[in-house]
Amino acid sequence: MEFSELLKKRRTIRRFKQVQVFDKDIRYILEAARVVSCGGNVQKIHYIVARDKQLVKDIFDNTTWAGLVSPDRNPEWGKNAPLTFIILTAPEDSGSVMQANAGAAVQSMEYAAEDVGLGACWIGAFKKDNVEKLLGLPEQEETLYIMAIGYPDEEPVQEDIDSGESMKYYLDGDDVLHVPKFKTEAIADWR
Ligand SMILES: Cc1cc2nc3c(=O)[nH]c(=O)nc-3n(C[C@H](O)[C@H](O)[C@H](O)COP(=O)(O)O)c2cc1C
Repeated sequence: MEFSELLKKRRTIRRFKQVQVFDKDIRYILEAARVVSCGGNVQKIHYIVARDKQLVKDIFDNTTWAGLVSPDRNPEWGKNAPLTFIILTAPEDSGSVMQANAGAAVQSMEYAAEDVGLGACWIGAFKKDNVEKLLGLPEQEETLYIMAIGYPDEEPVQEDIDSGESMKYYLDGDDVLHVPKFKTEAIADWR
């Protein structure tokens, strides 16, 4: 897919078909993380692919979804919840560069997922302590983000908005998620 099309099409997905993702597609997504820009090129982020049903459910129970429309976009376990999570971990207290590194990696993985027809949700709101226990992380390692991956079971739409308009995403009467994005003129300033 052309990059311009990927840019246009990618939306956060929070409802997933109950079909397992192919290993080869997970590998493609991990490849997108592996080669990404990285402060100091330290590459200290580790990726845990959670596929075991019980582990995925336990992690799912510790995640929070779409706060602005909660609880209307909470996936339901067994109906439209993700079947795969990728959890990013790094040495504890690595600081803001590691956060930035993780952000770059997740973003790259999101586009790779879109490229192979998958949807993803970048999850920052989760119970860290619980998830770290579930994963049996050593004390000196911490979780940074979780990424949910699966086949999309919703089609959110992007809206372009002007400066001063609300950027809050919302559900319409047909249960479609609308995601406002400021137009370039509203966010960029040329000097
Ligand atoms: C750092 C970060 C943390 C996020 N955490 C969550 C989360 O915990 N739960 C969730 O449902 N979405 C989460 N999201 C997804 C955002 O809500 C989403 O990107 C935003 O609404 C814009 O939608 P879009 O990705 O379709 O452009 C997060 C996104 C980022 C970048």
